[in-house]
Amino acid sequence: MPSSAVAYARQNHPRFLEELKSLLRIPSVSTLPEHNGDCLKAAETLAAELKRIGMEHVRLIETVVHPLVYADWLHAAGRKPTVLIYGHYDVQPTDPLDEWLSPPFEPVERNGNLYARGSADDKGQVWAQVKALESLMAANRALPLNVRVLFEGDEEVGGEGIESYVASRPPELKTDFALISDTELFAPGLPTLCVGLRGMIYTEIEVRGAKTDLHSGMYGGAAPNPFVALARIVAGLKDENGRILIPGFYDGVIPPSAEELAAWRSLPFDEEEYRKSEVGSKQLVGEAGYSVLERTWARPTLDVHGMPGGFTGAGAKTVIPAKASAKVSMRLVPGMTPARTFALYKSYVEKIAPAGVDVEVRLIHSGDPSLIRVDNPYIEAATRALHEVWGKDTVFIRSGGSIPIVGDFDRHLGAPSVMMGFGLPDDNIHAPNEKFHLKNFELGIQSLIRFLEEVGG
Ligand code: BES
Ligand code: MN
Ligand code: MN
Repeated sequence: MPSSAVAYARQNHPRFLEELKSLLRIPSVSTLPEHNGDCLKAAETLAAELKRIGMEHVRLIETVVHPLVYADWLHAAGRKPTVLIYGHYDVQPTDPLDEWLSPPFEPVERNGNLYARGSADDKGQVWAQVKALESLMAANRALPLNVRVLFEGDEEVGGEGIESYVASRPPELKTDFALISDTELFAPGLPTLCVGLRGMIYTEIEVRGAKTDLHSGMYGGAAPNPFVALARIVAGLKDENGRILIPGFYDGVIPPSAEELAAWRSLPFDEEEYRKSEVGSKQLVGEAGYSVLERTWARPTLDVHGMPGGFTGAGAKTVIPAKASAKVSMRLVPGMTPARTFALYKSYVEKIAPAGVDVEVRLIHSGDPSLIRVDNPYIEAATRALHEVWGKDTVFIRSGGSIPIVGDFDRHLGAPSVMMGFGLPDDNIHAPNEKFHLKNFELGIQSLIRFLEEVGG
């Protein structure tokens, strides 16, 4: 028999979905300053809804850029644990815009999915959390445990604001565990808990040659070309087998246990299908001797995101640019730290820089990797709730992506995280045509309700 909160969620689902669409219409792109007002509007929308459903002490907490949204409800009868519910209301930019089949901030339903920027990452999941709380509150006039809510608006740009707030260990964040809905199911219909994330450092290399842009006919042959120098540097970061060449880079990497590797081998994963339909390239690349899941979950990697500078317009311009830059990030795994990795990388880049140019290496943001222990009552309660809603045993996976705050909750608050998310691998997060599977929105709300009920006993 479903709980009365689940029954409430079922009855009210059409309204929940319409409300999510309104939230998705707010273009809360955190990296673009022209959307600061929209980020504030998304934060205010969440705060107003938390207040309306009966949460207390609802307020916006100012940070360097976008505000946090805080709320709590701490009146659970008896000795009940406290949960800290986390998600982010900011979204990625929408470019390339012409590849979207419908406008990114005009949510539409198509083939069982809701298409919009932020639908899966992460507004749809944040809204599922809020609607789970609403359902519990409406059905019982109380929550089954003590609840704190902390939503962030800078996750997609590194989460500096929340990090310093959490690091200050404010009494209002005292909690037993965190519940994070910002991850995905391993496959459609397969209940999943994420127990590991990669960390990252995001950097920028700037190479300078001549004091100003120069005519390439007059000076070509004498003036250093910063793009050629930068290309040499970038090409020197990895060998042809995908191994990163920074000395000491892999030192200390902790490999997954034999049990974890065995569990990954029994996941329903078809490499050829993944290559064709998820990646869409003619072959996969990466370190030899590791499976795709190991390479994306448990091995550190390095990627180049763009090389801004110089002449990139249509047609031709004969110029030797004065400077060139590259955006380069590395994903880190357990055993690695952002500070050490950045220091090794920086001195290696300076060492391999060709003669005649100046190089500057800057750190833009960073976050630690995290690995969650599964032998705690919260994870056990989560698997019980998921089994009830999805009718299957839960699989434990890691993810190659990063949610830096998970490590901070652990370090600063002593709180283990339950990463219960409902995205799908093909949701196109950060890409054109982002979607959220409608069934996952619905079952996600029910899973969160049943999980909180299970923890509350
Ligand atoms: N929700 C993602 C992280 C994620 C993606 C977890 C897929 C599990 C599966 C998050 O919003 C994200 O994109 N994080 C950034 C972090 C960075 C900007 C610090 C990332 O991974 O690039
Ligand atoms: Mn996210
Ligand atoms: Mn994201």
